[in-house]
Amino acid sequence: MDEFIAGLPKCELHLHIEGTLEPELSFELAKRNGLTLPHRTVEEARAAFTFDSLTTFLVGYYEGMNVLLKEPDFYDLAMAYLAKAAAQNVRYAEIFFDPQAHTSRGVPFDVVIRGLRRAVLDAERLHGVRAQLIMCFLRDFSAGYAMATLLESLPYREWIVGVGLDSDERGNPPAKFEKVFARAREEGYLLTMHCDVDQEDSTEHIRQVLQVIGVDRIDHGVNALDDPALVEEIKRRGLGLTVCPVSNGFVTDGSKADAIRRMLDLDLRVTINSDDPAYFRAYVAENLQLVSDELGLSREDLVRLERNAFEIAWLPRAVKDAFLTELDTYARSSR
Ligand code: ADE
Ligand code: ZN
Repeated sequence: MDEFIAGLPKCELHLHIEGTLEPELSFELAKRNGLTLPHRTVEEARAAFTFDSLTTFLVGYYEGMNVLLKEPDFYDLAMAYLAKAAAQNVRYAEIFFDPQAHTSRGVPFDVVIRGLRRAVLDAERLHGVRAQLIMCFLRDFSAGYAMATLLESLPYREWIVGVGLDSDERGNPPAKFEKVFARAREEGYLLTMHCDVDQEDSTEHIRQVLQVIGVDRIDHGVNALDDPALVEEIKRRGLGLTVCPVSNGFVTDGSKADAIRRMLDLDLRVTINSDDPAYFRAYVAENLQLVSDELGLSREDLVRLERNAFEIAWLPRAVKDAFLTELDTYARSSR
């Protein structure tokens, strides 16, 4: 199964670019920018990556970003991820970025987006992996700051396919950003939002993303299974769910593989993704492997998970179809 997963054409839809910052690159960027890191070696830095909740994870995640200052830093970060993704046969990735995690430190929006955009273009040319960017607002900042960030993004509208919402969900419901997302929709952005797993008010937040925001996709969203009416509505709208099994093991009490099995059985468009692979030490192939080991997935199940991902990807129909044909050819040839 390892070999089958390695060769499987993959689509990654839940990936925070800042969560791909490996300690090796951190040290390189710190040196380049004249900064001193709290850890002396890569090994020490890696050993310090321990979290047991979303809140404790986010502390280390934001601290880690302090080395990202200049356009080439963002370029190198995204190029390193895209090269790794291509090596795992990721054919297409939708990449989240958190502009406010940088603008709040005095790094201009323009620096962030230009570095990421240049990497997206170069990676397609050099590694054959296609990617698009999704701009996330930090939900623990104000709705006003999110709106200002949205307006700041408009000159770069063509480089960003959609908007999302991430960071600490506690006390920061989707409805807080109703106006921001309504404006984003008017500007032609597609919409997604994190509904992290086993949060306070998880099911109420999923209800809001459906009824108040009108999202095109849900990030995580595992707790929809707690309410049959939510499952029904997600199915009726054909919405996809971007589940991140290894990440779940860090921020809650396990991978939620059983929920993934239920979602497959319910015919929900569930997908497998890596979230913050440098911190959780698992890229998308390792996430697929974990679910496959825990559930004893068949090759058909694995192909179905990737088919779901290409189907819900924010791509024109003809491009999706080309990826789906590639996936079908792989499935047939490795029977
Ligand atoms: N930012 C980066 N990773 C995140 C996650 N898993 N949940 C919420 N915000 C995040
Ligand atoms: Zn996430």
